[in-house]
Amino acid sequence: MKRTLLTLLAALVLLPALADEGMWLPSLISERIDDMRAKGFRLTAEDIYSINKASMKDAVVLFNGGCTGELISPEGLLLTNHHCGYDAIQKHSTVEHDYLTNGFWAMSRAEELPNEKLWVRFLVRMEEVTDRIAAGETAAQIVEKAKAEGTGYKASVEQMYYGNQQFLFVYEQFDDVRLVAAPPSSIGKFGGDTDNWIWPRHTGDFSMFRVYASKDNRPAAYSPQNVPYRPKKHFSISTKGVKEGDFTMIYGFPGNTQEYILSDAVAYIAERSDPAKIAVRTGRLDIITKAQESDPALRIHYAAKHASIANAWKKWQGEVLGINRLGTVASKRAYEEEFAAWAQDKPEYRSVVADLKAEYDRIMDAYFAYEITRETLSTLPAAYTPEERAEECFARRKFAEQALWRHAFREYGRCPKVYRTPSYAEGMARYKSPEAYADALFEAVWEGSDSVAMQPAVRLREETKRMLDHISWMLGTKSLRNLNSKILNELYTTYIKGLREWDRERAFYPDANLTLRVAYGSVAGYEYADGEYHKPQTTLDGIIAKDNPEIYDYDIPQSLRDLYASKNYGRWGTVIDGRRTVPVCFLATNHTTGGNSGSPVLNAGGELIGINFDRTWRSTMSDIAYDPAICRNIAVDIRYVLFVVDRVGGAGYLLKEMTLK
Ligand code: ARG
Ligand code: GLU
Repeated sequence: MKRTLLTLLAALVLLPALADEGMWLPSLISERIDDMRAKGFRLTAEDIYSINKASMKDAVVLFNGGCTGELISPEGLLLTNHHCGYDAIQKHSTVEHDYLTNGFWAMSRAEELPNEKLWVRFLVRMEEVTDRIAAGETAAQIVEKAKAEGTGYKASVEQMYYGNQQFLFVYEQFDDVRLVAAPPSSIGKFGGDTDNWIWPRHTGDFSMFRVYASKDNRPAAYSPQNVPYRPKKHFSISTKGVKEGDFTMIYGFPGNTQEYILSDAVAYIAERSDPAKIAVRTGRLDIITKAQESDPALRIHYAAKHASIANAWKKWQGEVLGINRLGTVASKRAYEEEFAAWAQDKPEYRSVVADLKAEYDRIMDAYFAYEITRETLSTLPAAYTPEERAEECFARRKFAEQALWRHAFREYGRCPKVYRTPSYAEGMARYKSPEAYADALFEAVWEGSDSVAMQPAVRLREETKRMLDHISWMLGTKSLRNLNSKILNELYTTYIKGLREWDRERAFYPDANLTLRVAYGSVAGYEYADGEYHKPQTTLDGIIAKDNPEIYDYDIPQSLRDLYASKNYGRWGTVIDGRRTVPVCFLATNHTTGGNSGSPVLNAGGELIGINFDRTWRSTMSDIAYDPAICRNIAVDIRYVLFVVDRVGGAGYLLKEMTLK
């Protein structure tokens, strides 16, 4: 009896793939399908990914290289986030037709708006090519062959597990993608930067496009003769709603995670890099916010800049908190020590942990210098353009711009001395303070002075660029998104190979690298603080509670207020916790990251229940270590999307081409 209990306990402790961590390769999903089905999924591996029949992958696209989108009709209708369609919506907006502010609803195919340089990519197939490369074929040859297979085909060979495995991805790219619908920003961006990375959330973060193709359904450049693309597969939409515990699956293109890095790299992130970048950005945001508060024109001028600085700034704060709370540095260190002990008598792996640590020592200062330079001097403009100068608010920007220059020069002082540019040392010696030095250079750039007066600024710029190139050369790689080097990469190839031999119970999945992945989990709230549980669903009542015409981020359209007052929700009204309301957003445990924006959130039957658009900020350490207790992704409930299209946009005709279940 006692024995059985112990065995049972041991089995529980060793349970692989703890909870819902993981971003799985679709072509290998059969390895996970039993676990998925045990958690409620009702379809097969072939339904998710198949090269023999239409499968879910045929309804998912990489949207313009940074987001995900999904097909929701047999006529090429595509759904993604508002923040993913933002550039396209903005480009079509003018003072007379301000689609960003008022929304855009094409009332017929003829009104759908073409977008230059907007593309989507479907995955035709993926296959492992590790053996072909080992046999002497080059990645470039494999890619060329694949591209020749069809019109609009793109291909790439991507490294998994630091090159232990290589996969060919073959895509079909469509370049005629037209804007169909976007809600007003006061819905699509409701909550703005205030609510960004925050739960409870009430953002209707969606927009709609349509993929167009030639008459024979092939990719084609924009032409009025093109017709709506007929996808092999589109998602049916479930209008039945979600509840806590329901199975969820996310199919999309996560961009960048680092789940296997050593404790040294985690410590670098949590103790050195993130805190420094957060501090530098706090200063920039203070300056910009002050300018925005002083002047309505400046509020608009700096809006996009503020949003992009604040997005990573908030994310990093959650990452540091999460890593510290989880004790990731200590747990990784213990893990490495165990591995190193196992590797003692294995020549291939014996020194790899020590070698990795030595390489980190060699490159850490250089990489930190790279990051600090990018966050400071590299953010300053080479010139103020004639277009900017022509803007009505240009002169009023001067105090803010000057403050940003001073701030950048001051904060660049965080850069380790050996990696500072010679100009900076000379300038500091001459002007005695970063502020005086910044003022001298700023004045020339601001005035658009002659080349003699501009010389010191030009020289500093060129030297800065040269220093960044030098660092990149030192690290032996151009891909500097993470603390990284050519040598580290090679060592990690060995380390991961060793880990997979040693840690048999661990469910390994390759780091995100903007290739198609499946993540599965369930709708779930979480304990936000001691005694404070956050429910997984928000509603229209919460929007009304936040609504405030005085606060830009919370000023909803009058039409939404009217709908709330009349309770004229039509079929979208639902009783939640005893109140008749409209569902807005929900939380789930799917392991996601940047790039998963716009990804379809699917139920156990593979029907669309939401669109992924964010995580809670304290979840963001899941890029390094996933914690099932706290990591949650945020989705907009598909019923809110349909409600807004139908009731706010008056574009209910779009629903007719969808498959509503
Ligand atoms: N945090 C989300 C992401 O990382 C949304 C960003 C856009 N929204 C915003 N309010 N800035 O992309
Ligand atoms: N908003 C992110 C994106 O644009 C997704 C949020 C995350 O990092 O999980 O991809």
